[in-house]
Parts: sequence; structure tokens; C-alpha cells
Amino acid sequence: MRVLTGIQASGKLHLGNYFGAMKPMVQLQEQHELFTFIANYHSLTSSKDAQTLKQYTIDAAVDYLSLGIDPDKTTFWVQSHVPEVLELYWVLSKFTPMGLLERAHSYKDKVAKGIPASHALFSYPVLMAADILLFDTQRVPVGKDQIQHVEMTRDIAIKFNNEYGELFVLPEHTVQEEVATIPGIDGQKMSKSYGNAIDLFLDERELQKRCNKIVSSSTPLGEALEYEGCNIYNIAALFLNDEHKKELQERYKSGKEGYGHFKKYLKELIWEELAEAREKREYYLSHMDEVNDILAQGAKKARAIASGKMEKVRDAIGLI
Ligand code: ADP
Ligand code: TRP
Repeated sequence: MRVLTGIQASGKLHLGNYFGAMKPMVQLQEQHELFTFIANYHSLTSSKDAQTLKQYTIDAAVDYLSLGIDPDKTTFWVQSHVPEVLELYWVLSKFTPMGLLERAHSYKDKVAKGIPASHALFSYPVLMAADILLFDTQRVPVGKDQIQHVEMTRDIAIKFNNEYGELFVLPEHTVQEEVATIPGIDGQKMSKSYGNAIDLFLDERELQKRCNKIVSSSTPLGEALEYEGCNIYNIAALFLNDEHKKELQERYKSGKEGYGHFKKYLKELIWEELAEAREKREYYLSHMDEVNDILAQGAKKARAIASGKMEKVRDAIGLI
């Protein structure tokens, strides 16, 4: 099964991103033919300056490689290194009714949040359709906010196929249902825009400081603690199997330890979980040539498929 997903690079990654997006993605490459790219053309719609966009793109490449994207298994590239996608975007525009784009929630949400209402922002779903259709994608794992974009992709593909012949595969979306919303240090959904995130690549002291900021109740030491509804427990539970969850519950109930102990324990869990990723990240950060090489190889593989597909598209619609 060919599975494709685009990554919006937008700065530092946190535990919510890790459990909600990166871990499931890395698992996909074990069973499927995974295509993953950093969607820097899309990021341009909300980018403020060149340096930041460059930095975010490179950071995302390093972080995803460190967290387990394996370039021997996964085709991994930067969107703008395969410019065929922009050609398909234009072609697909012809098959995109204005009404379809006018109904897009994501566009309205972004404008409501203050992102300038540009044509690029408006036609963002057409570029996403091009990303998906260019590679004969069968499945697109997305967050809930992106489901509509995959549905629009199908509508555009159906319209093309009806008018010019069955050239495009109709993609299905999948949503990672079992991944719950990861809470932040205040118990709300972890998000970089809420200032409640625990970033993935803090140093050990900073990580402990961040864990110490987790909001907990003020039961005095010596009394049994409630694990249900405790933010420290809820985050720690993400790392634990059933047996270890039980053990932690018992520690809460015993009254022998206070929240400070559990914050230390949580820091250890996070630190351990990311040990290998941290090591790889240090390696890649000091071997940027290798990162660039991996991205170039990925683009080459992706481009070979993209240019073959575009030849068929041009022929089908009469571009000589
Ligand atoms: P943020 O809210 O920090 O801006 P993004 O919207 O950039 O995060 O999310 C990128 C990916 O990480 C998405 O696939 C999203 O579903 C996932 N994700 C982000 N925050 C969480 C969270 N708190 N719990 C689960 N998944 C999350
Ligand atoms: N729009 C997606 C997001 O914000 C990123 C993206 C771009 C994407 N192109 C894609 C996701 C193609 C899946 C398939 O998360």
C-alpha cells in the first residue's frame, strides 16, 4: 500500500507531536511503502521570513530522521525539490470548482487567526491534492483538521478522471483514532501556541525544570495521592505498559512519595524514550552533508515517479 504524508515544519517539536504524529508515522514505514515530504511550499503561506523557513525545513529533516524515518525504507524529501508538483497543481486548478475551495474550513480558520487571506492560502488544498495524486497515493494519514482536504482531493481526482480518463488513484484518509490528545503541563491539549508544551530535545536540566512546572494538586507528603486526573500520571502513562501503569498507581496510593518524585520519574521516562533519537540528532547535526544527501536521494526517487506521472497527465489533457 502506498501511504503518503506531508509534514508542516513549524519549529520545535513537542511530546504531543511525538505521540500524535511522529511515532505513528515511523511505524507506518515497517508495513507500507511510505512517502513523506516536508511541505515547505505549503509553509510559505504562513512564513514571515526566508531564514526561518529554511531553518524550520532543515530542523524538520533532522528531527524526523533522528526519530526514526529510515531513508532506506521511506522516500523522504523536501516538497520544493520536486517542482513537478506545482505543474500538477495548475492542471488540477482547472478541475477545482470555486465552490469547493470556498467551503474549506481550514482556510476560514486560518484567516480568522490572522493569516493574510492570499490566493496561496485559498488554493492550498489544490496543492495538497497535487502532492497526493502525483504519487498514486492510496492512503493519507492525517489529523482531523485535514480530512476535508483529502476529500477535496478525491473530488478533484474524480472530476479529472471523468473528463480525461482514469489517470488518478482515489486516496483514502485515515485518522489515528487511538492516539488520544496529549495533555500539556497545564492539563489542556499540548500545543506550542498554548505555551504548555514539553519540547522533545531539551537538555536534561531543562527537561526536569519543565516537568517540575506540571500543574498538580497540593496533597501534603505522606498522604495517598490521586493518580486519576493527575497531569504527571497522564503524561507518564503514555510511556508505560499496563503492568508499569499499575506499579505507578500503587506508588501514588502508597503515600510514601510526593509529586516531586513523580516529576523526576517522568523526566527519566522522557529522557530514556528519546535517548536514541538524541544520539542520532547529535550525529546528524554535525553531519549536515549527510542530511542534505539523504534529502537529495529522496527527491531523486520522488522526482522519477513525478516526472513519469506528469508526462501522462500532459498527454491526457493535450499539453504538447
Ligand atoms: P501545535 O498544536 O503544537 O501547533 P501541530 O498542529 O503543528 O501542533 O501538530 C502537528 C501534528 O502533531 C498533528 O498531526 C497533530 O495531530 C499532532 N499533535 C499536536 N499536538 C498534539 C496533542 N496534544 N496530542 C496529540 N497529537 C498532537
Ligand atoms: N496540510 C498538511 C498539514 O497541515 C500538510 C500536507 C501538505 C499534507 N501536503 C500534504 C498532508 C499531503 C498529507 C498529504 O498538516
